[in-house]
Amino acid sequence: MNPKPVTEESIRHAVELLRQGQLVAFPTETVYGLGADAANPDAVAKIFAAKGRPADHPLIVHIASAAQMHDWAEAVPEAALRLAEHFWPGPLTIILNKKSTVPASVTGGQDTVGLRVPANPVALQLLSAFGGGIAAPSANRFGHISPTQAEHVAEELGDSVGCILDGGACSVGVESTIIDLSDGVPAILRPGRITRSQLKAVLQTDVRLSTQSKIRAPGMLAVHYAPNTMALLCPADTLITMTDDLCAQGNHIGILAFSTEIAEIPCLHLLRLPADAELYEPALYSSLRALDNLQLDTILIEQPPDNEAWAAVNDRLNKATV
Ligand code: TXA
Ligand code: MG
Repeated sequence: MNPKPVTEESIRHAVELLRQGQLVAFPTETVYGLGADAANPDAVAKIFAAKGRPADHPLIVHIASAAQMHDWAEAVPEAALRLAEHFWPGPLTIILNKKSTVPASVTGGQDTVGLRVPANPVALQLLSAFGGGIAAPSANRFGHISPTQAEHVAEELGDSVGCILDGGACSVGVESTIIDLSDGVPAILRPGRITRSQLKAVLQTDVRLSTQSKIRAPGMLAVHYAPNTMALLCPADTLITMTDDLCAQGNHIGILAFSTEIAEIPCLHLLRLPADAELYEPALYSSLRALDNLQLDTILIEQPPDNEAWAAVNDRLNKATV
């Protein structure tokens, strides 16, 4: 399946496919999504089959506007309205108690539902034209690197998708921040571009960082977002000795660095990313994917600083590495 340029015609075609219960891959500002009509359990089942994703892992329902929260959530608390007002359209997923009409396949059998209005013009055009909610996980095989370009989706999912809308490279590049508002105490289930401080400032309450939750979320599994090549996180001060050792043993290695100066030598493929988290994020997955395609023995990744700005990157790298 080749990616299609976005035109009125391709959006119309995508909407038609969604109405027929087929899958449509579309760009969001975070990563590409693999979408199905969230109100159609047969269509939603195709997402799980295409991804090889266990059936008990819930999907995010993408909606065109905050007003549609009421179609999916049993009640919309004041905190959800406030977050939606500040951060939507944008990279924030809000978990609320679900309406009884939401298909169990969408929520992995849980009594909550994740909702998000994405900030990507193509996604919004598609959602408005479709009218309903689009259930969409990242458009990759389960556990693998998320796609940030239409070609990545074509590589990963090939013919199991009816159409891939090509909206170019994703501007944010890491998945949405997930905040759980379903049981009173707000908790971040997955860090993203929108930080805990930003959420606290808007909610004017504490926001917990949840590493463990009664809710199962694939992004919370120990291994996720992973390349096939063995990948290791390496503090900046050991990156050079580690590189020398591995090269001396005859290994071909890839390096993802942002601060350390490393000389180019034949056994090594070096990718240098920006030292600013917001610029690093959009390049992260495509860089990992590029290194993963080189048949290297090991990928060494320079460990980012341990602070809030890098929280999303650290979360993804910890799960992508051994
Ligand atoms: O940025 C994003 O969130 C992207 C784009 C496509 O919107 N989507 C995405 O979907 O990352 P996915 O399925 O790869 O990750 C969604 C995460 C999963 O960890 C899932 O378990 C969690 O959201 N999730 C969805 N509904 C949930 C719920 N009711 N309770 C807890 N976690 C939920
Ligand atoms: Mg995913």
